[in-house]
Amino acid sequence: MTTTGSKIAIIGAGVFGLSTALHLKKQGYKDVTVFDYQPYDQNAYNPSEGCDSASADVNKIYRCSYGDEIEYQDLALSGRPIWLEWNEQLRSTPADQLPKGLTPEDDLFIPCGFLRMSNGTELSDYDKECLVQLEKAGLRDYNHVLSNKEDLERLWELEKKQPSHWREKVYALNHLQEGRLDGFIDTSAGVTLADKSCAWARHLCEKAGVKFVLGPEKGRFDELLVEGERESRKAVGLKTMDGLEHKADVVIAACGGWTPGVVPEASQLLETTAGSVCTITLPKDRQDLWDKFSPEQFPVWAYGLTGHNSPEYGGFYGFPRTKEGKIKIGYRGRKWTNYQTHPKTGQRISTPKTKYTTDKAVNLPKKAITYIKEVVGEVFPELKGIGITDTRMCWYTDSIDNSFVIDYVPGYSDSLFVCSGGSGHGFKFLPVLGKHVVNALEKKTDQFTPLWHWRSRVPGEHANGLEEGEMSGRNLASLEMAEEEDWQWVKKGEIKVGGDVEDITKGVNGVAIKA
Ligand SMILES: Cc1cc2nc3c(=O)[nH]c(=O)nc-3n(C[C@H](O)[C@H](O)[C@H](O)COP(=O)(O)OP(=O)(O)OC[C@H]3O[C@@H](n4cnc5c(N)ncnc54)[C@H](O)[C@@H]3O)c2cc1C
Ligand SMILES: *[C@@H]1O[C@H](CO)[C@@H](O)[C@H](O)[C@H]1NC(C)=O
Repeated sequence: MTTTGSKIAIIGAGVFGLSTALHLKKQGYKDVTVFDYQPYDQNAYNPSEGCDSASADVNKIYRCSYGDEIEYQDLALSGRPIWLEWNEQLRSTPADQLPKGLTPEDDLFIPCGFLRMSNGTELSDYDKECLVQLEKAGLRDYNHVLSNKEDLERLWELEKKQPSHWREKVYALNHLQEGRLDGFIDTSAGVTLADKSCAWARHLCEKAGVKFVLGPEKGRFDELLVEGERESRKAVGLKTMDGLEHKADVVIAACGGWTPGVVPEASQLLETTAGSVCTITLPKDRQDLWDKFSPEQFPVWAYGLTGHNSPEYGGFYGFPRTKEGKIKIGYRGRKWTNYQTHPKTGQRISTPKTKYTTDKAVNLPKKAITYIKEVVGEVFPELKGIGITDTRMCWYTDSIDNSFVIDYVPGYSDSLFVCSGGSGHGFKFLPVLGKHVVNALEKKTDQFTPLWHWRSRVPGEHANGLEEGEMSGRNLASLEMAEEEDWQWVKKGEIKVGGDVEDITKGVNGVAIKA
């Protein structure tokens, strides 16, 4: 039985590990240690400073719209007041008492609204279902369908009371398919500043007495310490890369995309896949674009994101610019895999490959760039002259059914626990996830824990792509990769007269010189 007296070791200080640690402390657990090879105390989860976990990113979407998955809708909703409270707490903390990476001027959650565009003149079935469920939860008033006059009137009234640029936000994607598309904007949704939120949650953990063992050697999991055999087999701690052994009653693996590598048993229900992300950094002298894409005037958006199983061309989303002028745009119509031989078990499993891993990812598959350029070119022609300025493969941990995996691993007498399977939607739950992880650890059933049980895939049945293995056509080894010159809409040296490029680069007499 796991109780407040149990010694808990958590591997991984991303959203799943942090939220678990925080809530264990809230429930009175005395001995909680988090291990991570990232020196988050120094790099503050900043993706430009060596961080490559899913949680260490500039921003993520916060939404309550979840189709008929009302558990996740409820869970997201339960976290919203805490996100707002964290904003307040951060604002009222003196700068010298904040960890690296945070200032009192930072926001963790900005409710700038979330515009979901359907691919058609009608809302998708998924979007319709979202509205049905949001209405049941009493949240319909926050949502405004573009083709619904009453809905829009309600929004314009709101704007009269409090100037808020909803008109610009509603029509932010109006260039798509010449404005024929329907969609809806959720004014309660918005953007979470991911790296800053993790730095804040880690700060709260430290204040609550969570111990952190961080660093490339001393914080890196090497081996599980196991005693006994068969029925009496038990995890009794972990060994880190520096050779030290750390005893624990329960070891929790919260390693995101690295989880199947750390707990081989998890590889039958988790597949590590990469989402494609591009950044367009706005030039300092384009105040017009800095204004247009600011979270005050521009929403989080998605296009052709029908449920979780988008077709290959689809599943686009983007964010308002950050304080640094970065506009992040993502594509998840297809997610990539990187099958490798596990050095210890010899198993073939998909493993993260990033800017910072030994085997480096320097670009995205060419099709991802092509699709992103097509959509961005259509919807924001003013960005074409700038071009893509950076790319990133960001690693999901997809479960066989897109629900989290938060349970004991069978065969270890309740001493080894997995807390993962974020499946591309775990970030928003940072403030509240851990509460239910503690319930799962203590085997107390709540609304969520049954969804997260350890499960096995049924041979022959669809398992979210995992069943396809390395022959799925998504394996990076079989894909053509983009070159940096593919990041531009117009090739270097190419002269274009008129058209889209003209109004961006503003060459002499309307002749663009170079984009
Ligand atoms: C492209 C993309 C877009 C997303 N968009 C959204 C969104 O808009 N909204 C949303 O809510 N969610 C979103 N998500 C999902 C969300 O980011 C994840 O669900 C969440 O961040 C996962 O957190 P985690 O703690 O499980 O994993 P991670 O954040 O990957 O953290 C795992 C940690 O484990 C550490 N680790 C790994 N191996 C070891 C080892 N051997 N020893 C020690 N430490 C180790 C890593 O350094 C890392 O810190 C997105 C995910 C991706 C990839
Ligand atoms: C929109 O739908 C059309 C027709 O089904 C399809 O060809 C296209 O790829 C879709 N686009 C997106 C962005 O989903």
